[in-house]
Amino acid sequence: MLFQIKSYLQFLWHSKNEHAVHSPFVFSLITKCFYDSKPKTAYSVLREYRNSLLQNKNTIAVTDFGAGSKVFKSDVREITRIAQTAGISPKRAELLFRIVNYFRPEYILEIGTSLGLATSALSLGNPNAKITTLEGCPETAKIAQNQFRQFGLININSVVAEFENYLKDHRLSTFDFKLVYFDGNHSKKATLEYFELLLPNVTNETVWIFDDIHWSADMEQAWQLIKKHPKVTVTIDIFQWGIVFFRHEQEKEHFIIRA
Ligand SMILES: C[S@@+](CC[C@H](N)C(=O)[O-])C[C@H]1O[C@@H](n2cnc3c(N)ncnc32)[C@H](O)[C@@H]1O
Repeated sequence: MLFQIKSYLQFLWHSKNEHAVHSPFVFSLITKCFYDSKPKTAYSVLREYRNSLLQNKNTIAVTDFGAGSKVFKSDVREITRIAQTAGISPKRAELLFRIVNYFRPEYILEIGTSLGLATSALSLGNPNAKITTLEGCPETAKIAQNQFRQFGLININSVVAEFENYLKDHRLSTFDFKLVYFDGNHSKKATLEYFELLLPNVTNETVWIFDDIHWSADMEQAWQLIKKHPKVTVTIDIFQWGIVFFRHEQEKEHFIIRA
């Protein structure tokens, strides 16, 4: 916790808004997408989706993976508690919706479904997109799948698999994913492993979003290595997320933006 507070203070010190940005690509993303404060009908669907989970007092047997949760000790968890602690925040879900809506990627991959709070934002952001979302815990995935059905989110393919296995087995078919939301195992080792596995398939249009880049010293190290990678050109650190682009025409530049 102390680490995150220190990290956040550093972020506040270094972060800027659109006025300090000279890249037209990044300026447009910030002004037309990050700072777009107009209401959207999809936001009410996102709220309803979340509320239905928050009202669900049933319990499920959860299979724990990777770095695991800092909150839970037991394997039997209330759905409402998972929704309160494990998923994307309402504000970030709206931003994720806007990012997808802005770039309109045709194929999207989410690494870490949980109850599908972020998946619903990906789905509504571009109803024409085909979304693949990965979750290792079958019980958790089942709740998410029910939610997708209930909310008519038909463009989601929910896959129950360990991330590592899926990404290795589907190396060639991951070619099409133009937007990847990395929100699973928040450890340096796993983050860099997924980064390397997906890297051969990036194109000029690819957008990658890494969640929790300042969650631990370990994750900050992973973020620094990602930024330095020769294939990576533009990065945007908005504290909760690190957003990565591979645009050839753009000089390597790292932005720290309040969003
Ligand atoms: C932080 S949650 C995802 C939250 C979700 N994106 C949202 O915003 O609602 C991470 C999920 O990844 C799953 N997970 C973690 N490590 C995994 C692994 N190695 N293989 C498969 N699933 C894993 C966990 O079971 C957990 O449900």
